Amino acid sequence: MDFKNIGKEAEKDLEKANDLKVLNEIFRKYLGKKGEITRIFSSLKKISAGERKNMGKQANLLKVKIEKAIKEKAEEIKKIAKLEKVKKERIDITRPGYKLEIGHLNPLTLVQREIGEIFQSMGFSIIEGPEIETEWYNFDALNIPKDHPARDVWDTFWIRQDDFKSKEKFLLRTHTSPMQAHYMEKHHPPFKIIVPGKCFRHEATDASHEIQFYQLEGLVVDKNISAANFRAIIEEFLRKFFKTDIEIRLKPDYFPFTEPSFEVSVRRKKGDWMELMGAGMVHPNVFKAVGYTQSPSESGWQGFAFGVGIDRLAMVKYKIDDIRLFNSGDLRFLNQF
Ligand code: DAH
Repeated sequence: MDFKNIGKEAEKDLEKANDLKVLNEIFRKYLGKKGEITRIFSSLKKISAGERKNMGKQANLLKVKIEKAIKEKAEEIKKIAKLEKVKKERIDITRPGYKLEIGHLNPLTLVQREIGEIFQSMGFSIIEGPEIETEWYNFDALNIPKDHPARDVWDTFWIRQDDFKSKEKFLLRTHTSPMQAHYMEKHHPPFKIIVPGKCFRHEATDASHEIQFYQLEGLVVDKNISAANFRAIIEEFLRKFFKTDIEIRLKPDYFPFTEPSFEVSVRRKKGDWMELMGAGMVHPNVFKAVGYTQSPSESGWQGFAFGVGIDRLAMVKYKIDDIRLFNSGDLRFLNQF
């Protein structure tokens, strides 16, 4: 029996083996039920007793040797596999993390929050009001009488009357100014408020007009309040908002709820003048409408008000040339903020 050759063959086979499956086949080839070593043991019966002892000893030695080699090889294969696994699964803690995609705020919300913070730092309270208004608050209380041509400036979405039992006419507010009346009815001066909010106008849309937009109303009522106070406050606000030196210019304008009224223009670094907002001193008729019975000269209470488009402020700040982008849902636009 050729123990030497069987031994060598087994050695060769083991050298080539590089996974446990092949190793299992080798085990079967030599030590399985029909394996070569097993066969040697069964053939021992056929030889003489003298030879059998010697052969049996050799066969046993070979068996132990192959068994040991297979066991060692199995351990080696397992060790290599483990090392490879560790290498593959190694965590590189120095790698920069993946940025999680989380939602973010619309530029209009960002701007609205920033505006709120600036005015709060100047002692203003932030007030909100209803988007559905009555004709009284949106127009009459603001000294815009029925059938007065001034009313046509605000192209109004009226709400169908048949749905309500009320005699009041309802509408989508065309500006945030009605909150002046709501607030003054319930509060006694002095106060400083801003009212950010959504407004609606029934008009054709283009790059600078949307049927739905945002306004910021401001109202300050106190003793000894003048247009100079307005100028100082609005200049401070715009400087903080645009984070640069600005110049402002007031020109006479007309709004039914203020007298005198101004148009406020702004320019940055000697650039072009840009019309930005309407403002003025609260009209005595507005004070009267909200139940301040004494005239400003009797009571001493005076006030200024202003109204500015939040969309417009955002457009100027971020150089956005089309108001329709804000509500477009276009991620190429929104992801920039
Ligand atoms: N409500 C006006 C508009 O929508 C803007 C405005 C102008 C508001 C002058 C004011 C103001 O408070 O004093 O066009």
